Amino acid sequence: MKISKNFDANHIKSFSSNFDRKLLRHIQKLKSPDSKIKQAMIYFVKTGGKRIRPFFIYRMGLFLNIKPNILQDFALSIECVHLHSLIHDDLPAMDNDDYRRGKLTVHKKFDEATAVLAGDMFQVLSVKTLAESKHLSANQKINSIQMLSKANGLEGLIAGQSLDIYMKKNSNIKDIEKMYLLKTGALFSLCFHLLLNVKNLSLKKKKELKLIGEKIGKIFQVTDDMLDRWGDEKKVGKKINKDSQKANIAYKFSREECLKYLHQIQNKNYKVLQNFFNTSKEGLDYMSSLVDFIVNRVK
Ligand code: IPE
Ligand code: IPE
Ligand code: MG
Ligand code: MG
Ligand code: MG
Repeated sequence: MKISKNFDANHIKSFSSNFDRKLLRHIQKLKSPDSKIKQAMIYFVKTGGKRIRPFFIYRMGLFLNIKPNILQDFALSIECVHLHSLIHDDLPAMDNDDYRRGKLTVHKKFDEATAVLAGDMFQVLSVKTLAESKHLSANQKINSIQMLSKANGLEGLIAGQSLDIYMKKNSNIKDIEKMYLLKTGALFSLCFHLLLNVKNLSLKKKKELKLIGEKIGKIFQVTDDMLDRWGDEKKVGKKINKDSQKANIAYKFSREECLKYLHQIQNKNYKVLQNFFNTSKEGLDYMSSLVDFIVNRVK
């Protein structure tokens, strides 16, 4: 897909409608004697979503001259992990949410058993997508699946979700940051990290790329938490003010303090982006504008 050099929020919109068609086809192709779980998966995809992780993969991948077919497989796989995490996150046993993206959550639209299984199947599909990729070598598949398991598992997302649920409201900022890094940062980091399986970069650049993912993940979760406290429920599409009793930066700090905190991470991230892109002003400008977009998002 060709998109112009300067960042424009419409790029994400046109990218996501294109991506959604591929994701729906990917699910529709699944064979099963059961139709319910597929129906629930398709319902959830059709509720929308920003597809911001796939977009990061595409943009960074294009800057690194990685083939679009490979980027597509990575993007589908990561979005499946994300979709699994959201369906399960909304369950009564976890955050107990009735709405997401302005639509009923999967367990509300269907039932809890269906939501558990649809979430499970998105996990399975994330691995299946990499394992069956027609564009990755056998070694690249193994390495990608290993990275995915790490980011999605007990060193990443699942650990982060568990910490989040059981963490005390008055936890200190270091512990909250650790939880953010796991529940959200691990998957963002993976978006960039996966690219290293198909692109040779120096050790320095590899470290920078991982750092960029972690910082963007943190920025993303802080803005999500801020939207819970100060967002507009209609735009956010999920119930707001539900995290007041949780370990959450927006309930620890004032809005001004949160913004200051965000800008500090943004500045640090900008420096890493500067080093990473070195002489490519185009790459630096695009990526930093994309990060600004995340900071200013309303949903
Ligand atoms: C929400 O993620 C969950 C978090 C990690 C904060 P998104 O805001 O990316 O959710 P969708 O897919 O766009 O709805
Ligand atoms: C969720 O964080 C992070 C995930 C890994 C799903 P939240 O619980 O704050 O996400 P929302 O607000 O429900 O989207
Ligand atoms: Mg949660
Ligand atoms: Mg939640
Ligand atoms: Mg939230």
